[in-house]
Amino acid sequence: MAGDHVGDHDGPIQPPASFVEGANVTEDLREQFEREGPDAWSRAADTLDWSEPYDEVLRERDGALRWFDGGRLNASYNCVDRHLADRKNHVAIRWEGTTGESRTYTYLDLYHEVNEAAAGLRSLGVEAGDVVTLYMPVMPELPVVMLACARLGALHNVVFAGFSADELAERLDGTGSEYLVTCDGYYRRGTAVNQKNKADNARMAADHDVETVVVTRLDDDLYLSDDHVDYGELLDDHAGATVDPVERAADDPLFVIYTSGTTGEPDQVVHTTGGYLSYVTWTGESVLDIKPSDTYWCAADVAWITGHSYMVYAPLALGTTTLLYEGAPDQSEKDRLWELVERHRVDVFYTASTVVRAFVKWGEEHPAAHDLSSLRLLGTVGEPIDPRTWTWYREHVGGGDAPVVDTWWQTETGGILVSTLPAVDPMKPGAAGPPLPGHEVSVVDYTGDPVETGEPGHLAVTEPWPGMPRGLAEAAVADDWTYVTSDRAVVDGDGYVTFLGREDDTVAVGDTAYGPATLESAVIEVGGVAEAAVVESETAGEKAVAYVCTERDRQGDDALRARIENHVADRLGPTARFEAVIFTPELPKTHSGKIMRRLLSAIADGEEYGDTSALRNPETVGEIETVSRDD
Ligand code: PRX
Repeated sequence: MAGDHVGDHDGPIQPPASFVEGANVTEDLREQFEREGPDAWSRAADTLDWSEPYDEVLRERDGALRWFDGGRLNASYNCVDRHLADRKNHVAIRWEGTTGESRTYTYLDLYHEVNEAAAGLRSLGVEAGDVVTLYMPVMPELPVVMLACARLGALHNVVFAGFSADELAERLDGTGSEYLVTCDGYYRRGTAVNQKNKADNARMAADHDVETVVVTRLDDDLYLSDDHVDYGELLDDHAGATVDPVERAADDPLFVIYTSGTTGEPDQVVHTTGGYLSYVTWTGESVLDIKPSDTYWCAADVAWITGHSYMVYAPLALGTTTLLYEGAPDQSEKDRLWELVERHRVDVFYTASTVVRAFVKWGEEHPAAHDLSSLRLLGTVGEPIDPRTWTWYREHVGGGDAPVVDTWWQTETGGILVSTLPAVDPMKPGAAGPPLPGHEVSVVDYTGDPVETGEPGHLAVTEPWPGMPRGLAEAAVADDWTYVTSDRAVVDGDGYVTFLGREDDTVAVGDTAYGPATLESAVIEVGGVAEAAVVESETAGEKAVAYVCTERDRQGDDALRARIENHVADRLGPTARFEAVIFTPELPKTHSGKIMRRLLSAIADGEEYGDTSALRNPETVGEIETVSRDD
């Protein structure tokens, strides 16, 4: 039996008139999709410039679905060259580093550096179809080199800068990548990281030679071996060079990326040039409402799919100013992000829901200390956002009336797939929203049969979409194809999807199974609680253990524990009882901001928890173990 339910959202909340007035998309496009079917996706393709128009929006050819088949284009041309005519002096990238420095690239600056970098890479032998691995923190050279690869028709393979040499070596081998662009080092929370050293160790471990280019970030050539090409010199050698953008077929690959591997082994996903780029540009325009005049900020890391799609490709294809920030949200002060929003008059702010929960924990005085009135739209991604956190975000960051889009998607989907259209669909805090126009989803049981409305199951995507990766486009030719995700969800009578968490994280309490989001949302409703993770403990006889972080000025004591237990029992029924409620200062989170629930389960069970390299805050594990033992 499943205990998840919907119907107690605090909404619906209508989009505010002031937002609707200027929004990019103000009509419900669902009817158009119903009338025209996949042909309506020409809207997405129309956001781009094609050097060769496509013959058909969608067709099957040679064992795969092909989006915009026959069309040819170049992603770097679309993100850079096409803006030169009207906006060459408009700021494309505004970068803020961790140590107070900042840099600005206009579209013309970007054009020059992308061309020089492309000429440099070509002189090293990089050609269309090659894989170039990038291993850098959030710094302007990262999008520049991504676009230089795209200009040459080479695939980039961005590896998160915090990953170890072994992880880099696995990804160099896994993609057969013979080129690496990295940096000498960078500062992580004030400490210098010797990135080149990690890259050298990875090259030694790799099963083939890897030509390496090094960008100077620290300007400190201590320990820097000289078996590499210097990025600055490479650009100087090609100063003023231009490289004609290499025309790519619509479904030629644009890049390869690994899934985050929070639950399973990381997998390679290959996204296409025409389908992916149209899809992220279209969703950037319609869901994130990005306008060329905006300063738009997606606070994430470029290395994740969120960064590829919504820090680099969508905003640059749309000709806006994308703000890139190198540091962590609380580096050096807990109001650092709000200081940047105020200083740059940021219009749209998009980040992980776990980051929003950290804002709640740090306290409302931090956003209150800044003028955030420039913010028109807020977004979240990465994990479900409970109604209380959603409301806090809108109230304390969004001035009480900015729409908040809760966007569901995955590395595999390329771009946002479930979300409200902010000027069209009412918002229901806690529910991500309906599938975007053009999409069909269904909730299915473990045999693949649809369940009744309001019943939980697995979310399945039943129609193809332009952002689908190459592997799915091949699988989708089968008659009975659906893409069943490992996310559990419930759809309500209005077609709104509430996400309950990953299937592997389901918590059984007695004879009732809950998605962790249902239990966590109930815990977070209790005043004084900022964040919670509920996991199953096998040694406790399949009972639930709640790990809870309090708001900064609240004590985790027996009184709060009792209030949590009573509230959850009131909300979900008397069987929803926790074996333990453990207060902890932090929850273990991955580099991409997801709570690592399997690690908490292992701690609760006193088991070995194995590899913690995916963790951003491994130092919290010992602390959590101590509080768990003491409890
Ligand atoms: O479980 C869902 C969760 O994040 C997973 C995808 O993770 P990844 O491939 O790393 O991509 C992250 C950026 C899109 C999904 O399977 N997820 C993502 N967004 C949401 C979410 N869960 C609930 N609500 C969301 N808005």
